[in-house]
Amino acid sequence: MKNQLLEKAFDVRLFEKHLLQIIPILKKHLFNTTKGKNDFTLNYTQPLDQLNFWEDYLEHGVPEEMLDEVFKRTTHTHHPKYVGHQVSAPAPITILTAMVSSLLNNGMAVYEMGMAPTAIEKVVVDILCKKIGYSDNFGGFLTSGGTLANLTALLSARKAMVKHDVWNHGHQDSLGVMVCEQAHYCIDRAAKIMGLGQKGIIKIPARNTFAMDIAQLEYGYQEAVQKGIHIFAIVGSAPSTATGAYDDLEAIANFARNKNIWFHVDGAHGGAAIFSDKYRFLLNGIAKADSVVIDGHKMMLMPTITTALLFKDKKRAQQTFSQKADYLLDDMEDDWINSGKRTFECTKTMMGMHWFILLKFYGEKLFDDFVTRQYDLARAFQKLLENHPQFELATPLMANIVCFRWVNGNFDQEELNRLNQTIRQHLLEDGEYYLVQTKLGDTNYLRTSLMNPFTELSHLEHLLGKIDAMAVKLTN
Ligand SMILES: Cc1ncc(COP(=O)(O)O)c(C=O)c1O
Repeated sequence: MKNQLLEKAFDVRLFEKHLLQIIPILKKHLFNTTKGKNDFTLNYTQPLDQLNFWEDYLEHGVPEEMLDEVFKRTTHTHHPKYVGHQVSAPAPITILTAMVSSLLNNGMAVYEMGMAPTAIEKVVVDILCKKIGYSDNFGGFLTSGGTLANLTALLSARKAMVKHDVWNHGHQDSLGVMVCEQAHYCIDRAAKIMGLGQKGIIKIPARNTFAMDIAQLEYGYQEAVQKGIHIFAIVGSAPSTATGAYDDLEAIANFARNKNIWFHVDGAHGGAAIFSDKYRFLLNGIAKADSVVIDGHKMMLMPTITTALLFKDKKRAQQTFSQKADYLLDDMEDDWINSGKRTFECTKTMMGMHWFILLKFYGEKLFDDFVTRQYDLARAFQKLLENHPQFELATPLMANIVCFRWVNGNFDQEELNRLNQTIRQHLLEDGEYYLVQTKLGDTNYLRTSLMNPFTELSHLEHLLGKIDAMAVKLTN
């Protein structure tokens, strides 16, 4: 039953030919981006033009040129002038682990469909738990992204803290989760998926630093209790997304202990600071968290998508999706070998290899060096902004996320908002730098996440000059 087309699709020589063709393209891309040789980070195309191009390409394009076209039509995270979203410029060696994961395609749900990567994942999880400061009974797993990991953590929290068997019988009480109003939207989404409704998301106001206002916790809690809401968890951001503000984890831990509620830390972005000798203090209190999320594809130099969900008590990692009622769960075995029982997803990539290969080749110091460098760079950028008369910071920074705007006393708030939005659009279309924008209160800011290990202060100085020149042109 030979099929010619299938034979061709699996032809090893053809694969080798494609591989040899792509190697110089990858090499050139990495060289030109990391060394800043290209004079753009993206070649912005309007969405409909992009769609037309690919529709036409499927009909008429040369197959061998497809990947080249993809390179031309995407955003280059490895370029030092990439200062946009919170995704990493992956360390090149992890491109190989991604490739091997795709080739072997072991689905990871059960042990024999991913024997080596399952054990590798446990090694990685144990290192992360120890680094957090957990002792003895810790555990966890890797899953597909911070959004999914936060949802999973809140499901674990509900299973652990709510007496009623919600998993099997649905909701009986009004349940609630406390979180700062500045937290990533995925917490809100998770709570809604869990059926808590808007009233079940108790939003604690932020201070003017954009971190959770701890003084408001008791009030928020009592108000919810009076409405008949049973609060079972509180989430601390480490840091929150828009401004990079770390919540006071120590204070939240104390609050959670007093109220006997689950304490979860969303460290998707900045949990990686556990590796930084200099900035670890930002995470003081993290060892008291019941669960912690850390993304590998943000501040740990890995490709999308890989997230660690870590538990102080490994039993909790095991129980989330169990059909058994809570009171039957205590004697469950630690079934770490069967990933699918513990993760939301059934099939996942062999993602543990990214973490392991970086640890094996470069050691934990790579993560320390990277986080420390980027946080230092952000502080130097902050000084530049403070000393520049045409720029204003949204808030003093804590991580490597910097929100700022171009200002001039001759314009009112609305005009400045419009102007900063226009500047951002011009920068996007210009393509030399890639940065994003955010709205805080009624004010529009430009926003940079300093994710690239080759961004220097001189790039940021040049960026400010470019923005200033653009603003002057736009206002004259
Ligand atoms: C604090 C925080 N939590 C969660 C997420 C979502 O993570 P992911 O994009 O891996 O789903 C983000 C993404 O930026 C984030 O900044």
